[in-house]
This record gives sequence, structure tokens and C-alpha cells, in this order.
Amino acid sequence: MSFNRRSLLAACAGLPFATSAFASARQVGLGELAARSGRYFGSAVTRDDVSDAGPHIRLFDGECSVWVPSWQMKWGALVPTLGETPDYRNCDTIVASAAKRDKRLRGHALIWHEHLPAGAERLSTAADWRRFVAPHITAVAGRYRDAIFEWDVVNEAIEPYDDGADLMRRSPFYAMLGPDYVAEAFRLAAEAAPSARLYLNDDHLYYAEDWQERRRTGMLRLLDRLVKAKVPIHGLGMQCHLDTRLRFDERIFRRFLGQIEDLGLTLSITELDVTEAPNAGDRSMAQRRLRAAAEAGKVLSVALDSPALAGVVTWGLSDDDSWLRNRGADMADNQGLPYDDAYRPTPLRDALASRFASTRTRHPT
Ligand code: XIL
Repeated sequence: MSFNRRSLLAACAGLPFATSAFASARQVGLGELAARSGRYFGSAVTRDDVSDAGPHIRLFDGECSVWVPSWQMKWGALVPTLGETPDYRNCDTIVASAAKRDKRLRGHALIWHEHLPAGAERLSTAADWRRFVAPHITAVAGRYRDAIFEWDVVNEAIEPYDDGADLMRRSPFYAMLGPDYVAEAFRLAAEAAPSARLYLNDDHLYYAEDWQERRRTGMLRLLDRLVKAKVPIHGLGMQCHLDTRLRFDERIFRRFLGQIEDLGLTLSITELDVTEAPNAGDRSMAQRRLRAAAEAGKVLSVALDSPALAGVVTWGLSDDDSWLRNRGADMADNQGLPYDDAYRPTPLRDALASRFASTRTRHPT
């Protein structure tokens, strides 16, 4: 893959990967820093990131206490075409590597409207749910019942732009069971993996913009219904794909976190990264990285004031591998993760480290 390019970049920078990227025993890993307040720090990983021979295994090992497969546990990754037998080999490799290195695993995601098996986008009846979706949840959650400590059971259930009075996304899952699909997915997951902590995961819940306020409203209503119905849900995962073009108001985010706490739920930052390239202007690379770090820092500071926050996961460690880079021509050199293209730590890593070190709250574990 890009191993050669990366090695070259690192060498050009005078910092060969082995020494620049978390090889030094002197550096305290973010996982260790987070653990001081009862929290975890982790990253999304691919199978190659965590394979024994992978060029970056020392970085993912050194920095993280938690790993999350970014792709390989999704339904469409396990079952490319509806009706096929799931192929668990990639997931099993990640699970084995995590066990060997004492990492905890978050599972992502049992139900998501994207990356479905081909053909699943047409499912629309309760019988389809019973035939295809319920067995999928039961099989995956059950297979990894001892390996996964937290599951994103449902990903991205809220979508006010779909114009439903309940502000929920009109996905195939919604077509099959209506709004009850969420509760049903959590019940199935709890049955199959009784000791896992079960999360609803979603994005765009942090900024002051009206469209995000509507999403917060939709999310609070859904969570309130689930909690009142005694559905086995433990937490809200906030993806935190942040964006320097949007307006952050600390009071609004703090109020939202308080409302989640009042429901008795745990919080987690599950997919942190920062979009900064489209409005980078003529800033230097160093300025851009500082700006991304400041953006993450604002959100982290408020979130870490909440004892309900269980941990922070970034969506990858290095910009070189970031999914954001593929999100448009203006994203090709985006700087939004704790390591740069040459696998050197960025100011965003410092932001994470300093926030973990200075938090005054503790997550009860
Ligand atoms: C992304 C992965 O990073 C990509 O590798 C994949 O092709 C598409 O999905 N929100 C989510 C994640 O919940 O699952 C997405 O991950 C990023 C947005």
C-alpha cells in the first residue's frame, strides 16, 4: 500500500517511523493518560493497522487502550451481498491482535444505513427484519460477546431533513419496523451480548447552528423514549467529526451534555477528527494544525467536565489514513488527527494529552 510512501516521508523528515511514532518508552500514551481519570483513549483501526507486521502497530499499541474497527465490523463488510454467509476473518484478526495487546474493543456498528450488503437497501417489511436484520445482530453481537466491551448498536438514527415528526432517519430499518427498530436492535444486542455496554451513536450534536439544535432535539426525544421504555441502552456515542466552519457555543454543548446525564446515560466521543482544509485560507501548515487542535480542544474541554464521559476515540491516528482526505478535492491535505502524514505528533495530540491530564472529573468505572 502506501507503506513505502510513508516510510519515505518519515525518513525525509529525519524521523524514521520507528522512533518518531510512539516507539519511545519515555512518552506516556494517550490511553494511559486517559486512564488516570477512569477513561479510555482509542482509535479507529483497520486490520492492517493492527496486524503484527503492520508498519504502525507500535503507534496503535502505544497510544490506545481501545480499538474500534473502522470498517470491518459493518454489515456490508461482513456480508457484501444480502444472503451470503458472513466472512468474519478480518474481524477475527483484529480481535486476536487486541487480545494479544490487552486492548479493549468497541464494536462499530450493528445497524447503519450506509455500507449495507447489496440488496439490503430494498428491505422494507417486518418479515425482512426477522429474516435478515435480527439474525445479523444476534450473530455478530453473539460471536464477539466476550471480545467487545461497547457496541454502537445503531448508528445515525436521527435525520431532521427526512421530515418525519419524530426527526428520525427514514432508513430501510425504519421502513421495516418504524421507530421501534431502535429498541428492538438494542434488545437483540443485549440478549446476544449481555455484558456489553450498548450505545446509540450519531454526529452533528455539538455546534450552535439551528440544524444541529434540531438534531439535539431529535436525539433527546429518542433517548428519552428508550430510557422510559427501559430499553437496555447505556450510552450516547458522539462521533465528533468537527468542522472549523461551524460555530461552537460552550453553553449549548454543556446544556446538551447535562440533559444526557439527567437521563442517566454514559457519553463517549467515538470518532473525533477535524475538518479544517476547506477554510484554511492562506494559513501555514503549522497554523492549520494549531487551529484544528483548538477546535478539538474546545469540545474536549467541555466534554471532559462531564463525569459521564467514558472516553475518547479518534477516527484514525494519522492524517495520511484519514477518511476525511477522500471527502472532496478541498480535503486532500486536511490536518485533523493526532499524527501528521509522516506519523509525527501534531498539536491535536497535545490538546488531547493536556485535556486528559488536567480534567478534574473522574468517570466512575
Ligand atoms: C467510514 C470509514 O472510515 C471508511 O473507511 C468507510 O469507507 C466509510 O465509513 N461516520 C461513521 C463511520 O459512523 O462509520 C464512518 O467511517 C465515518 C462517518
